Amino acid sequence: MKELSLNILDIVQNSLTAGASHIEIDLAETDETLRITVTDDGCGMDENTVRNVTDPFYTTRKTRSVGLGIPFFKLAAEQTGGGLTLKSVPASESDGHGTVISALFYKTSIDFTPLGDVASTLCTLVQGLPDGTEITFTHSLPGGTVSLDTAEMRAVLCGVPLSTPEVIVFIKDDLASQYAEARAMK
Ligand SMILES: Nc1ncnc2c1ncn2[C@@H]1O[C@H](COP(=O)(O)OP(=O)(O)OP(=O)(O)O)[C@@H](O)[C@H]1O
Ligand SMILES: [Mg+2]
Repeated sequence: MKELSLNILDIVQNSLTAGASHIEIDLAETDETLRITVTDDGCGMDENTVRNVTDPFYTTRKTRSVGLGIPFFKLAAEQTGGGLTLKSVPASESDGHGTVISALFYKTSIDFTPLGDVASTLCTLVQGLPDGTEITFTHSLPGGTVSLDTAEMRAVLCGVPLSTPEVIVFIKDDLASQYAEARAMK
């Protein structure tokens, strides 16, 4: 994939399929590294799935025999000298269920895939976000932090859907100005 933000879209899509009501997207960036962590409270995976999930020939979907979301993300991280970790608790267990996927990238590697347009990726996600699912996004950069909280936004919007074009434009502009500020502070 040309942009890591598209890998993120794919990983978050898995959380949506897993019926998550809260998805946390956390990007932590230094001058040398980028860590991308996606946490959800969805149905989780059993041990067997966790073991097989980084193998491109494993999937539970019926339409195609190959699941590539996680293997691609893992490969992109490993190519830079980093790696991917996955922790999951299935819904069958009594304690809180859900999944945490975290990938570390070395930005200094020539094989580092640029993050790309995260703001657009987020807008795509927000636009199609089902009712009852919230996203918290945080991107910490050396010069500051960019954030978005859909639950907070919904509270301010008093019933106006997040998918309203004006709302999406507002979110995009707001993220752009947060990024401009964080990058200017460096
Ligand atoms: N957050 C998650 N919660 C629960 N199960 C998950 C989660 N992420 C992945 N899985 C399980 O792992 C499998 C593999 O995921 P992966 O993204 O690699 O492929 P896929 O979603 O099946 O196909 P593709 O992403 O190529 O469309 C999924 O089919 C699903 O069973
Ligand atoms: Mg997937």
